[in-house]
Amino acid sequence: MAKRKMILDLDTGIDDALAIAYAVASPDVDLIGIIGSYGNVYVEEGAKNSLKILELLGQTDVPVYVGLSHSSESDHFDRMPVSARIHGENGIGDVDLPTAKRSFESGDAIDFLINSIKQYGKDLILVPTGPLTNLDAAIKKAPEITGEIGNVTIMGGALTVPGNVTNVTEANINQDASAANRVFTSPLHLNMVGLDVTLRTLLTKQETKTWRDLNTKSGSAFADIVDYYIDAYKETSPDLNGCALHDPFAVGVAIDPSFVQMLDLNMYVTTDEKYYGRTVGDPARLSDPDTNIKVAVNADVDRYLETFMTYLTDLFSQH
Ligand code: BDR
Ligand code: CA
Repeated sequence: MAKRKMILDLDTGIDDALAIAYAVASPDVDLIGIIGSYGNVYVEEGAKNSLKILELLGQTDVPVYVGLSHSSESDHFDRMPVSARIHGENGIGDVDLPTAKRSFESGDAIDFLINSIKQYGKDLILVPTGPLTNLDAAIKKAPEITGEIGNVTIMGGALTVPGNVTNVTEANINQDASAANRVFTSPLHLNMVGLDVTLRTLLTKQETKTWRDLNTKSGSAFADIVDYYIDAYKETSPDLNGCALHDPFAVGVAIDPSFVQMLDLNMYVTTDEKYYGRTVGDPARLSDPDTNIKVAVNADVDRYLETFMTYLTDLFSQH
């Protein structure tokens, strides 16, 4: 069977870097491109990080496009200080990876996404692990794509647990709640992998030691990068005892939805000042039997972590 194609839309970011590694390592998908977003870092920095990570993993053919640089609600983006604390000043744990030998693609990121959907249709999986600004822009430009793409699985939102930016709001949704609301209330079918499940997929220094012990470039670099993230989590979320694998879990679920149990729901994203960015059932469509969102509410954490470690350790042993 031909492999499905995957596009990642990332604000690279430490867990975004792990999402790249998971997509590269999975035998079930071909990573055909990365679109850069803003959030953990500024858009160009994130795209540069994606290029560096791809080079580290020997993937010098995967194109990287620079997406939109700020939210649809604003004319600029200011990086939150906490992002540097969690992901490092450079977004990848202040680990100094060599500058990639190649640069971004010169083409338009939104057109790349639309054209890829036209080309691959139901065989294409999109995984946004940053704000939904790029996907919203693509739907605005070519509304028909909502019925053409095979699978959209986002990392974002929180339905059954509190947020991580405010009591009700998760970071990716918080960057551009209006875009998220338009995406959630569009005809697009999507899987939401939010804090409900990603805060249960935790990695510790025991696992990163396995990578360090490989004595390879990528094993050592990823061990250093993720150790930075684990130390940051120790400060910001001491109760968790590890770092959350938000973004690579979304990639895992996109490929194999049986890692989670999902709830069918029509949702919206609130944009009023008090509850800005809350992802919750849409009161206007609660009784509609046709639902467009599947929310992950439970997870087979052990099986996922085992798969994650098998894939990444094997990949890091080769580069
Ligand atoms: C999400 O926010 C970003 O900081 C992470 O990369 C992840 O995508 C978690 O809320
Ligand atoms: Ca991210």
